[in-house]
This record gives sequence, C-alpha cells and structure tokens, in this order.
Amino acid sequence: MAPLVFLVTGSTSGIGAALVDHILSRGDKVIASGRKVEERLGHLKSKSDNIALLELEVTAPIEEIKTKIETAWNIFGHIDVLMNNAGMSAMTTIEDASDAYVQNMFNVNLFGPVHLTQAILPFFRAQGKGCVAFTSSSSSWMALPTMSHYSMAKAGLSSFAEGLHKEVIGLGIRSVAFDCGGFITNLMQPREGAHASPPGAEPTDAYKPLLGSVIGMFSNDPMGLMPGSPARAALTMIDVIKGEGVAAGRPWASRVILGSDALDSARNRREDELKLLKAWAPVSANTDERKYTPRDDLRKFTMVTGSEQL
Ligand SMILES: NC(=O)c1ccc[n+]([C@@H]2O[C@H](COP(=O)([O-])OP(=O)(O)OC[C@H]3O[C@@H](n4cnc5c(N)ncnc54)[C@H](OP(=O)(O)O)[C@@H]3O)[C@@H](O)[C@H]2O)c1
Repeated sequence: MAPLVFLVTGSTSGIGAALVDHILSRGDKVIASGRKVEERLGHLKSKSDNIALLELEVTAPIEEIKTKIETAWNIFGHIDVLMNNAGMSAMTTIEDASDAYVQNMFNVNLFGPVHLTQAILPFFRAQGKGCVAFTSSSSSWMALPTMSHYSMAKAGLSSFAEGLHKEVIGLGIRSVAFDCGGFITNLMQPREGAHASPPGAEPTDAYKPLLGSVIGMFSNDPMGLMPGSPARAALTMIDVIKGEGVAAGRPWASRVILGSDALDSARNRREDELKLLKAWAPVSANTDERKYTPRDDLRKFTMVTGSEQL
C-alpha cells in the first residue's frame, strides 16, 4: 500500500504524540498539528522528511479552520486521514460549572472536531476517498458524575462519528470513533497561560464527598484503572484505519472501544440497558396509539455499522 498522509490534531502530548511516532515508524506521512507546535515538535523535522508541522488551535473560528485544512492539504498534495485527537478533560459538578467551563469543554472536544470534519469533507469528496477518525472516550457510553460535561461532549463526538459514517460511506469516505478507556497522559493536567482552560469552581460542600470519591478512584491505583499505553493506542488505531495487524479482516466499525477497562464498562452498560429495556417495555409501549411493525428502511439507518457482517 502507498504511504498514507495523516493530519493529527493535538500532536504535542499523550496519544497524539504517540500517533505521530507510530505513523512515522510505519513509513506513512504525518502533518503533526497543535499549539506552539514548532517550539514543541520542531526537533522531529530533522529526523524524517515524512513529517510536517502545522500550528492549529482546534477552537479557532470555522473560516480559520478551513484555511488551515487547505494549507495542510497542500503540504503533501493530499490527506488520507484526519485524526481528530485533540481534547481536554476536567472535573466539576453540574451545579458548580461556569458557562465558560462548559463552553470550552464542548468547543475543544466537540465543536472543534466538527469544524475540522466539515472543512475537510469537500476535499475528501473531490478525492473520492478519505477517513475521519476521532479520539473519543468510553465515557461516551456512560456519564460519570462530576465529569458530566466531558461525557456529554464525547457522547456527542461518538454519535457524530456514527452519523457521519452513514452519510459519507456512499462517497468513499469512512469514519471511526475510538472510545478510549484509561491511558496515563497529560489529559487532566491544567495548562498554563493562554492555553489554560477555564477552571471548575470551588465545589459546593454538598458535592465534596462525591467529588472526593471520584478523584480517589482515579488516584488510588491509576495503573490498575488505566491499563492502556498511548503507544499501543496509536498502534491499534492505525491498525484499524489501515485494516492491518489486529484489525485485519474485520469489517469496518464506526465505533471501536480501546482498552479492557473500557470494554468491561461498555459491556456492563449494555447488559444493564438490556435489563432496563425489558423491565420497562410496557411503559415504553404505553404511548402507542397504532400498532408498530418494525421497518427495514428505518433499521438500515439505525443499525450499528460493522454489526451487519458479524
Ligand atoms: N488519556 C485518557 O485516559 C483518555 C481517555 C479517553 C479519551 N482520551 C482522549 O484522547 C485524546 C488525547 O488526549 P491525551 O489523553 O493524549 O491527553 P493529553 O496528553 O493532554 O493530550 C491532549 C492533546 O490535545 C491538545 N489540545 C487540547 N486542547 C487543544 C486545543 N484547543 N487546540 C489544539 N490542541 C489542543 C493538547 O495540546 P496542549 O498540550 O497544547 O494542551 C495535547 O496535545 C483527547 O481527545 C482525550 O479526550 C484520553
């Protein structure tokens, strides 16, 4: 296969940095984007001709994002894969969250990737192929208390990836959300200066025990709770995108869970949901005025991509 060209957002740390390393090690090309990217990743340019850097703040206005995508496209002459990886996380209760905190959470984790996707789709359509990938989270499967805004934004992102795939597959374009479990990175670390996110407020006393128990859960045994390595996340993501290695021969899925912790939570979640669906079925059907017969035309759009061939 000819080398692929990847555009990765949030390349300056964690999973994004691991993606850049792994893409280069596979002989593919990468446009590593991020904030203060020359200062932080400039040293990589002397190591390979297959890397270019692009300064990119994902919350920039859509017009600026469109210009950035055009610039990125012209670096190697095309792009095969947009990796929407940049993200941030923080904790606060719903009652205590400021508007600035909530807006920022959604701007970075959801609206930024939505804008980047919108900007690249015309190029992918003209090319007749392309892939849009997202580093989403297993918290998209279940809202965690004190992290509701992060869970909401990532649930939106994974849902977006599913809808996107169904919209563009007929045009030769694919989409996948990686619903990641725990990986030890700089995700929860506050940033300095202009890159600092609006902080969560001092919690109201009534929520302090809950907040303490969620923080304790993460801090008591981080290695046990977060078994993943960013390098293995990068390898697995690229395997999925290229249909190689551990993903070889598997049908394309628009949501892929990464991490045994995430798999366990998602499986428990689906089992709980099925129990609830069954127990509440008479309530659900109680609103019907007419008999409902399941329809294939609706099922075609609601089914989970990848499940049809299993
Ligand atoms: N680590 C986990 O356990 C975990 C679990 C599930 C999902 N994820 C997702 O994985 C992705 C990567 O996170 P990570 O764990 O590797 O954390 P990380 O080490 O903090 O890396 C996050 C990256 O996103 C960049 N970023 C944040 N805000 C940005 C903005 N407004 N514009 C451009 N870049 C921005 C950061 O740049 P700066 O360094 O300049 O801030 C950094 O390069 C995120 O989407 C995260 O939600 C992580």
